[in-house]
Amino acid sequence: MAFNHINNYHNFIESELAKLVKDNLYRRLKLISLGEGKRRCTTGSVDGKDNIINLCSNDYLGLSYNRDILKKTTMYLKQISPCSSRLIAGNRPKMIELEEKLAEHRETEFSLIYPTGYMANLGVITTLADKHTTILSDELNHASIIDGCRLSGAKIIVYRHNDMEHLKQLIQTVFSKKRKIIVTEGVFSMDGDIPKLKQISNIAKEHNALTVVDDAHGDFVFGYSSSTSSPFAGIPSYLGVKDEIDVHTSSLSKGLGCFGGYVASTRQTRELLINKSRQFIYTSALPEHLCISALAALSKVIKGNLQQKLFDNVEFVFSKLSQCGFKLNNNSKSQIIPIIIGQEKKALEFSNQLLDNGIFVQAVRFPTVKKGSARLRISLTALNSKNQLRSAIDTFKMVGKRLEVI
Ligand SMILES: Cc1ncc(COP(=O)(O)O)c(C=O)c1O
Repeated sequence: MAFNHINNYHNFIESELAKLVKDNLYRRLKLISLGEGKRRCTTGSVDGKDNIINLCSNDYLGLSYNRDILKKTTMYLKQISPCSSRLIAGNRPKMIELEEKLAEHRETEFSLIYPTGYMANLGVITTLADKHTTILSDELNHASIIDGCRLSGAKIIVYRHNDMEHLKQLIQTVFSKKRKIIVTEGVFSMDGDIPKLKQISNIAKEHNALTVVDDAHGDFVFGYSSSTSSPFAGIPSYLGVKDEIDVHTSSLSKGLGCFGGYVASTRQTRELLINKSRQFIYTSALPEHLCISALAALSKVIKGNLQQKLFDNVEFVFSKLSQCGFKLNNNSKSQIIPIIIGQEKKALEFSNQLLDNGIFVQAVRFPTVKKGSARLRISLTALNSKNQLRSAIDTFKMVGKRLEVI
């Protein structure tokens, strides 16, 4: 009997894997090692191939390699992990300090850190929504938002990407007394574009809905302002609507180059999360030395020099790839530049040929994006040199022609 049971599972696993291979959706881990010297953050080895230029990191400002931050982190390192949930024996002074700084950064009353941005999204949505809530969610929202919505038990209504008329139409169908949440990303992670937050917040006000913005890719990168103590506070700030967003979630492992996630909100929301969010209560706290890294990185992002270099690179790559004839998302204003290929097989082939020629860009496929809209997701960093980018563009052009993409 026991043997049959295992055999059934063996068959199931084999057939699942075979299906993925057949549909060109099989994912394989690539082994990445850091490069050496000045450009170690943008080059390295991938699957044993050396001197590869990495164009798919989320370390947008290159801070994960910053010497000062590394030094501060290692100097402080006294304990690997608190080995406990915050509510048991895991709450530490640097966590509180980081939360104060993040609340200042986002200009909210309070903030709460989570072990990852994924968990921050799950935490907020499952705490603020239940079966009596209706969530209106952009169709391109990240998996962590989708999972949070599903886990909350709320009624989920998906509006067409960035389509405000559709959002208005749909929200009108919800019984006015029902609790409502509108949730969107700040920078869409696979498309690189930005939501119409002003309109979203107006619709939310009109219909008494709460707004939640996941700014994992906009935080620390967007939102320059000389008139605030908190520049680069992300997309709500960039669009001039920071006071109109109710709850902000974000990741520390992208623009900030660190690790972890956080929620920025009112004191009451933070209290409710501490008391009810299972993703906060039933897991170990973010190690304190990673809070030190984030505190050190925060002092670097406010200067603005890295963001300037990053957007200089963005402009350069966007215009060169457009000139080559690649199909780009013209709405993308960010460091995320997808080249839409369509077929999964071709996107994989493109990515493999790029790697054979020294460029590392992953092919993004279903279920991360819709079937038939596979793409190469380029993400740039402030530390990419123009020479690297020129060489990458030449390679894109060569492979693009060979595969008849351009
Ligand atoms: C939009 C968005 N939200 C949340 C996350 C999760 O963040 P983290 O990597 O900190 O878990 C990601 C990760 O890629 C993301 O793209």
